Amino acid sequence: MRAFCAKPTLGPPPRFRSSKKATPIRMSTGVQLAASPDPRKSSGALSQLDERILALIMGQAPLTEVLEAICAQIDQQYPGLLCSVLLLENDGRTLRSSAAPGLPKEYCQAIDGFQVGPRAGSCGTAVYRKQQVVVADIACDPLWADYSALALRHGLRACWSTPIASQDGKILGTFAIYYREPRTPDAQHLQLIAHATNLAGIAIERDQAKADLRAAESRFRSLVERLPAITYVAELGAEGSWHYVSPQIESMLGFSPAEWLSSSTNWMDRILAEDRHIALAAEKRFQQTHELFQAEYRMLSREGCVLWFRDEAVMLRDTDGQRLLMQGVLYDITERKRLEDELRHSQKMEAVGQLAGGVAHDFNNLLMLIQAHNERVREQLSANHPAHKDAGEIENAVLRAASLTRQLLAFSRKQVLQPMVLDLNAVLTEVAKMLDRLIGKNIELRVAPAETLWRVKADPGQMEQVILNLAVNSRDAMPHGGKLIIETRNVELDEAYARSHEGVSPGRYVRLTVSDTGIGMDAWTQARMFEPFFTTKEPGKGTGLGLATVYGVVKQSGGWIWVTSEPERGTTFEIHLPQIEEAEKVVTTSVKKVKPANTPKGTETVLLVEDQDGIRDLVGQFLGRNGYTVLHAVDGDEALRLAGEYGDGIDLLLTDILMPNIGGRELAQRLTQVRPDMRVLFMSGYPEHSSSGDEVSGLHAAVLQKPFSMDSLARKIRSLFDECESSR
Ligand SMILES: Nc1ncnc2c1ncn2[C@@H]1O[C@H](COP(=O)(O)OP(=O)(O)OP(=O)(O)O)[C@@H](O)[C@H]1O
Ligand SMILES: [Mg+2]
Repeated sequence: MRAFCAKPTLGPPPRFRSSKKATPIRMSTGVQLAASPDPRKSSGALSQLDERILALIMGQAPLTEVLEAICAQIDQQYPGLLCSVLLLENDGRTLRSSAAPGLPKEYCQAIDGFQVGPRAGSCGTAVYRKQQVVVADIACDPLWADYSALALRHGLRACWSTPIASQDGKILGTFAIYYREPRTPDAQHLQLIAHATNLAGIAIERDQAKADLRAAESRFRSLVERLPAITYVAELGAEGSWHYVSPQIESMLGFSPAEWLSSSTNWMDRILAEDRHIALAAEKRFQQTHELFQAEYRMLSREGCVLWFRDEAVMLRDTDGQRLLMQGVLYDITERKRLEDELRHSQKMEAVGQLAGGVAHDFNNLLMLIQAHNERVREQLSANHPAHKDAGEIENAVLRAASLTRQLLAFSRKQVLQPMVLDLNAVLTEVAKMLDRLIGKNIELRVAPAETLWRVKADPGQMEQVILNLAVNSRDAMPHGGKLIIETRNVELDEAYARSHEGVSPGRYVRLTVSDTGIGMDAWTQARMFEPFFTTKEPGKGTGLGLATVYGVVKQSGGWIWVTSEPERGTTFEIHLPQIEEAEKVVTTSVKKVKPANTPKGTETVLLVEDQDGIRDLVGQFLGRNGYTVLHAVDGDEALRLAGEYGDGIDLLLTDILMPNIGGRELAQRLTQVRPDMRVLFMSGYPEHSSSGDEVSGLHAAVLQKPFSMDSLARKIRSLFDECESSR
């Protein structure tokens, strides 16, 4: 703290005495000091000066006003005395005119911006030397050589300048006394100078401290108010009153700071009921331990948006040290939470997908065996045999089981879709035929396809599945009847729509809407509905795969789903698929299988490679019965050996893809190198392989997805041969 010097002191300026360097008065010229007058003469005036100046400083008067008052007061002490204060800029070199009520204005203007130097008049030199410089006669003093003309023009002859220093010795400016005739200071002058520099130092330093404080405050204010978070100071307790909240609260929660501070219940009121226990527990812990307050919870904004916040606070004592307060920051972490959810969801999908993919191979092989044996049994039974119908049921069960595997793979997005340019209306019309039977009499069904619909790219079979899954869910949601509406529309989504719907990009879409007047869903159900195996239905009534499948198919088709639902008010699913411009052939509905009467036969030679004995035997026997010559191999090594023995008489390689040692693909590549005309038909129990044969480039190849019927095998083989014939 600065000690204010109320009593005039003799000798060099007190500030200089406190600094390390002692600074004796230096006379620039040889003019002698005048004799010292009676100090009591001005002591009364000086204490008056102190009082006045102090009052001004305390009253927050502007700095120039304080300095002017000091100068004016000193001017009055001696007839002909004129004083001035120059302030040193931060660069440490430039002096600025600040106060000089008695000096000519023009002169003050001329010396404004004066540069410090070894021969820069009295003031410039005093700062340079960091000590008092007394020039008794400007006209002949070398320090004034460059400036005397200016001073003399204004009738100034003597100038004694003393640096004004801060408490810690930093030079702040100069205090100078001028006379219009050559003169040296007497003891009283020195007293006055010491007094004035001390007062000026206090005033300047205080002013700078105020400016520093203002700058620091504005820095912190801008930091607090521009952070992407809400800063606050509040009393402890769930309903402790809030003392400060930063203005970001308005853009985040829709309350002005004043509104927020006006009620201490705002905080708890805005936290979602199901998250309040989190905030309360953190609050309790904080009160007990006084350690960092930390909680993540959701709050409802005034517009009804749910936002996630991370709340972190530390303990703070009130200015009087009595009350404990919380000083904290609320970060909006909604986006982070959304991404976490998405990540969790996709990890779950990935895990189920891997599981499904893993079992699909073995499972489909088993189905294949069941199907083939069942086919053989059925062939041996006459149509009116009582077991003929049972065999038909077995076949249906196999088909359902195969479709379940496909569903598992579809929602985990591992299913290989066969997307094609599609008229969704045609798919809808096809499904609508089934819906009547499916949904029962007490539900009113309205199917409203748009008159013209843009084309989309999707797998028609999967889109049928999507509509069916949604319709069945709606049926289940309306056990006592209701209304089910399915419609299609072209929509153009603009920027504004995209902004308010997460993950949507603007553009043209075909919208499929399925809405019902059923029981609806609460927020909890809605948050989970797309999760695989999530169901609210009784055991045996739902697998929880319906919406997961819908989600997988739609995502894989480049579209997105929007759901609105309210308990007891019904549910609306909106599916958007991007419009496709391609002038590709339009498929009006999923390809229906047309079964010709007889299984096609052949006489070619087939190298059959399959590690599952049951399947190899079945397929081999079937092909043999239908005219083919079949070479059996249990793996790739045996196949290579057989092929070597048989030369180039092999027309078709029929092989499993996944086999130990040499896989189907490698085998095909090695064999076709020396037999470029040989056809290849892969059998696969794992759907990732079931894309078209052109994947194996350069081969006349195709893939048959297990489980397949013997009939479709025969057809596939024939079509491979026929295709190659016609391409020749
Ligand atoms: N239209 C709807 N109205 C009300 N709740 C619905 C609706 N659609 C889905 N749900 C809710 O979402 C859950 C999950 O649906 P999803 O289709 O994935 O499985 P599921 O219908 O229970 O079983 P699955 O479709 O596999 O037989 C349902 O159990 C139900 O609680
Ligand atoms: Mg369902």
